[in-house]
Amino acid sequence: MDALSKLARADVRVPETFGCIDGVLLMELIVDEDGAAAPRLDDVTMSEEQALEDHAIMMRYVVRMLCAGLIHGDLSEFNVLVDENGPVIIDLPQAVNAAANNSAEAMLARDVNNMSRYYGLFAPQLLQTHFAEEIWTLYQEGDLLPETELTGYFEEDTESANVDSVLEEIKAAMEEEQERLERIQAADEE
Ligand SMILES: Nc1ncnc2c1ncn2[C@@H]1O[C@H](COP(=O)(O)OP(=O)(O)OP(=O)(O)O)[C@@H](O)[C@H]1O
Ligand SMILES: [Mg+2]
Repeated sequence: MDALSKLARADVRVPETFGCIDGVLLMELIVDEDGAAAPRLDDVTMSEEQALEDHAIMMRYVVRMLCAGLIHGDLSEFNVLVDENGPVIIDLPQAVNAAANNSAEAMLARDVNNMSRYYGLFAPQLLQTHFAEEIWTLYQEGDLLPETELTGYFEEDTESANVDSVLEEIKAAMEEEQERLERIQAADEE
């Protein structure tokens, strides 16, 4: 319920919520043109053009979600419905707080890559894109905004890490900790 209302406020298309009664969450039924429950994305085939358009919409939703602090965590063609207005994201109980989860980057990558893989069945050029790395790097640098334009292109940092300087840092931190412990011990003995 929290995740659904947070995402609705962030302009991510999710079912509208009508409240919780006796532990049951009431939400909008997403429907097809006949008024029946809308199909899941995995039941939908589409043109290349439509796949590119809907993939871009999903990337925008993922970015808006992350800007609101959330990662879906189980985003796939089985948890996206499609109605006449486009994709609708469902099934959010496992949504994670992006800033407080050690697996956030991997979860975001899985969500994004699931989407590129599915839409890539109809628009194969999507299979070569790197939206997950691009989104995560912008997010980590504090540069991700709900309206940030993405390219799908990402250049990996091939510069090798400066291991010596990292070891120096670790050594300095250990020495500092040792001094702290000695100060505590000295104070105890007084
Ligand atoms: N708001 C909705 N409108 C229309 N259909 C919905 C809605 N929410 C869920 N559904 C349908 O119910 C199915 C299961 O919902 P959901 O993915 O939220 O639960 P789940 O725990 O993953 O269940 P399952 O294990 O069966 O996938 C969806 O695949 C979808 O077909
Ligand atoms: Mg589901």
